[in-house]
Amino acid sequence: MERTFIMIKPDGVQRHLTGEIIHRFERKGFTLVGLKMMQVSRELAETHYSVHQERPFFKGLVDFITSAPVIAMVWEGENVVSAARNLIGQTNPTTADPGSIRGDFGVSIGRNLIHGSDAIETAQTEIALWFVEDELVDWKPVR
Ligand code: CMP
Repeated sequence: MERTFIMIKPDGVQRHLTGEIIHRFERKGFTLVGLKMMQVSRELAETHYSVHQERPFFKGLVDFITSAPVIAMVWEGENVVSAARNLIGQTNPTTADPGSIRGDFGVSIGRNLIHGSDAIETAQTEIALWFVEDELVDWKPVR
């Protein structure tokens, strides 16, 4: 079954949106198989966002992600990588669709509440970066 990496960023945690965000994934029918609250190291943030390392916002992004705790999660479900991106909404909350997490609660591109893997391969890389195997629980909900 497909899995994706989802992180509630420091702004989502600080604004007490953790429950709201998890609720949306549960309501949609996805299965939570990993979850931890953590203070992110600079090394982990720089690795996670390495694709953006030449961008002007890179240092600010790393400063922000390491500024306060995040909630790292792995969700499982059919087509969960792209379905999660629909739940999350476009990168810039000012143009994200209402009804999406960023569209409903986000304020700016640098404070867009949540990260979701952009493709199946990226999800596999990000899950391996953020979690060790025994932090993930293999279970199936009774339907
Ligand atoms: P995310 O989808 O987690 O992946 C890369 C992040 O970089 C993105 O969300 C934004 O939070 C951030 N980002 C992208 N563009 C900008 C920008 N122009 N200014 C500040 N942050 C940005």
